[in-house]
This record gives sequence, structure tokens and C-alpha cells, in this order.
Amino acid sequence: SPISRLVVISNRVAVPKARGAAGAQGGLAGALNAALKKHGGIWFGWSGQECDAFTGNINLQRHDGVTTATIDLGHQDIEEYYNGYANSTLWPLFHFRLDLTEYERETGKGYERVNERFADSVAPLVNGDDLVWVHDYHLLPLGSRLRERGLSNRMGFFLHTPWPPTRLFVSLPYHERLVRTMLEYDLIGFQTDEWLESFCHYCRKELGADIDEESGRIAYDGRVTYARAYPIGIDYEHLMDQAETGEARQAGQRLLSSTRRRKAMIGVDRLDYSKGLPERLDGIARYFDNHPERVRDVVFIQIAPPSREDVQSYQRIRATLEQKAGQINGARSEVDVVPIRYVNKGHSLAELCGFYRAAKIGLVTPLRDGMNLVAKEYVAAQDPEDPGVLILSRFAGAARQLTDAVLVNPHSPDDLAQAIDEALCMPLEERKRRWEAMIQTVRDDNVQRWTESFTSDLASVKQND
Ligand code: UDP
Ligand code: G6P
Repeated sequence: SPISRLVVISNRVAVPKARGAAGAQGGLAGALNAALKKHGGIWFGWSGQECDAFTGNINLQRHDGVTTATIDLGHQDIEEYYNGYANSTLWPLFHFRLDLTEYERETGKGYERVNERFADSVAPLVNGDDLVWVHDYHLLPLGSRLRERGLSNRMGFFLHTPWPPTRLFVSLPYHERLVRTMLEYDLIGFQTDEWLESFCHYCRKELGADIDEESGRIAYDGRVTYARAYPIGIDYEHLMDQAETGEARQAGQRLLSSTRRRKAMIGVDRLDYSKGLPERLDGIARYFDNHPERVRDVVFIQIAPPSREDVQSYQRIRATLEQKAGQINGARSEVDVVPIRYVNKGHSLAELCGFYRAAKIGLVTPLRDGMNLVAKEYVAAQDPEDPGVLILSRFAGAARQLTDAVLVNPHSPDDLAQAIDEALCMPLEERKRRWEAMIQTVRDDNVQRWTESFTSDLASVKQND
């Protein structure tokens, strides 16, 4: 079929000029950048900028074959929609954290208002046969708002986060209304079967929808939508190019020369409570408690660019981490060795590739994660002749694909300590065997394949089937 133009809509748009904030933008922006470079089309979203009063003015930019169209939002919109409902209600709820979830009617109204603003602004940019592809928890009702404005395009939605179990999700006021709006998309994509099953369970139990498990067909209120799993991948070719740059080599050299004969373990995460960072530090502390002599042989480097800094739960996790890293180092450092290096600065993909390759262990231990691209990047960046070991949380979507990682329960310090010990002692042959199994899925199930399979399904699912 002739390829229609793609209109991608997400809250965050990776505008190259904003690269100063390297690292904090997360997996979605990188993946969509790759998708659009290949397809062409428009990428619409929030500029990340605050304006005095909302104007709806659209800032169009073109670079590398991608056209970005962004709007600025006012202070109250950002507070209620971005800091409020998206990141203090939906994000914690979708990561199973009812203890951190706030339920405020006002922020819910702000969320709906900004979704209306998005719809008003983007609707005129959409042509009749464009494929419209909406992303993530900020914009769940957007498809429905676009339908109200007369758009009958094929419309798909992809959720980059987990979808929580029904028993948690029903704690959200107006949960039915929210999910009913989602059923106006033609196709809804999830990272894994687990999130897909939770969503289908909700639709059946709470809405009484008619669901065909095999095809993912959901019939409700006279309409049909499809829900399926499309595990996202990395831009493998781009990463391999970045890994070859002088920037990558220098970064790797810097890390190696500063750690000398010590083996480096690395973690790379937005500073987010879903990433299991305090728990990871507890596991490392337990490892050093079990093997005090290894403080001279092993160093842990955590790169954690701050994220969503105006949200209270993020301020708290940052304070917790600073305290914990300080405590662990204080109790275990010698005048000439410090076991943990905690870095709040973001780094470019090239630099990360250098670090990944120089580190004998990659620690990816979120308490809950839709997918987790850092796990895949760590695998991709390894030296095939001497690959490092990936320690991966069972609760990351990536654990469904990277089954040859050392899988751990991130809540258990003993489990983490044991995994670190196992990884440090792992013979070359076993490291190679595990890596060869993992690199296949990282290379083959890449972001291009993800884009192709979602968009071709979106173009072909039929309303009357
Ligand atoms: N990242 C980066 N620089 C940093 C830290 C992270 O470019 O300093 C990138 C990282 O390479 C990865 C993304 O941010 O592509 C994080 O995606 P992931 O799916 O692991 O987590 P998310 O942040 O989306 O929750
Ligand atoms: C995760 C979310 C994305 C988000 C990113 C960075 O990857 O799924 O939607 O863009 O984190 O967070 P931020 O709030 O800075 O956009």
C-alpha cells in the first residue's frame, strides 16, 4: 500500500536545539526521532517552554527530514497537566505506585483542557489520509478529542509505560470515561503482553467489552478497536555509528583510566522513583558488606540526570539518593577509593556507548518499567569478544525479551548482591553465550521494525471486521 504521511503526536518533542538537556528526555523521544527520520511526516507536541498566556501559535521547524510543530503552554497548564495529572497521577499509578498517586479534580480538568488545546492546534495540520499516531499517558483522550473535530483518519495510540492491573487502575476517579475515550483509536499498542492483558482485563471486566484474545479485537459501544503488543527497540544502526565515534572512545578511555584496575558497574537512568535507584544502592551496599575486600576492585557509576524537577515525589527521591550514596560512600570509602560515583549530569548517546562498553556490568533494576531501552543499549554496545553482563529487573518490560540477562528481583538487596557476585565471577564463555542470545533480539527487534509493524497494522486494521 502507498505509505501515508505520518503525524506523530507526543507531549515531548526532541527538538535538536534543546539537546542541552541531554539525557533527561527519555526513551520515547529517541525512538520517535528514529521513526520519523525514516518515514517523514510531522511531529507535534509541547515545546517544553512556558508562555504567559496560551496563544496556540505553532512553531514549525525542519531538520534531518523531520518537521516538528510545537506549542508553548502557560504556567497553569504545565502545573495541572504535566506536573499534575500526567506526572503526579498517571505516571505513579501506571507504575503501580498508589502510595505516590495524587487524585485531584483540578489537575484532571487541566489535563482535559490541554488535550483540547492539543486537538485544536494539531487538527488543522492533519490531511485526510495521514496516519495519526499518538503517544503516551499525557494524551490518552486526544484521539477522542480529534474525532470530535471531525477527523476520521486512521488513529493509533502507543503507551510507553506499563498498564496497571485492574484492581489498581480502578482507584482513578473517572477511570471508565478515560478508557472509553481510548477505544476511539483504531489500534492501541503496549510494550508487552503483560500490559496488554491488564488493559484487556479492564475492558472486559469494567466496561463489558467483547474481546477476541487472538486478534486483539475489542468491540464496545458499536465500535471496534485493536489492542496488541509491540515491544519497542533501539535504533541499532545509529547506536553502532555513535559507538564508533571519537567521542565514544574518549568517554570509554576516561572511564577506564579513572578506574584503573577496578571493574566498573554502570547504571544509567532518569532520576525517577520507578527506576529502583535506592534499592540498587542497597544491593550494592549489601555486596560490599558481604565482600569488604572488593571495595578496592569494584566501582559503581550511576548516571542519573534529574527529571520532572517541579514534582514533589521527584524532589524526594533525589534527596533520598543523595543521602544514601553519601552514607554508603562514607561508611566504605578509603582515602584512595570511593565505591560509588553518583553523577546527575546527562550524557550523549556516544558517551554512553563508551561507558557501557567500558563497564563489566550493566545494572538495570527498575521496580517497574514499560520496556527500558538502556538495557538494550548496554547489550548493543558490548565488545563481542569480551562482553559485559547485564543484570536486569524481572519487572522491566525488557526482561520479556532479554531472558539471557541475569534476572533479579530489584526489591531484594540479597538477590542484587548475589547477582553482582555472579556477574563479576562469570566465565567468558558464559558471558558470550548470554550476550549472543541477547544481541539477536536487540539487533533485529529494533526501532525501525517497531515503527513498521505498528504503522502497517494501523494502516490495515478494519473498522468493519
Ligand atoms: N539517556 C541519555 N543520556 C543520559 C541518560 C539517558 O541519552 O544521560 C537516554 C538513554 O540512552 C535511553 C533513554 O535516555 O535511550 C532512556 O530510555 P529508557 O527507556 O531506558 O527509560 P525512560 O527514561 O524512557 O523511562
Ligand atoms: C518516559 C515517558 C516519556 C517521557 C520521558 C521523559 O520515557 O514514557 O513520555 O517523555 O520519560 O520524561 P519527560 O517528563 O521529561 O518528558
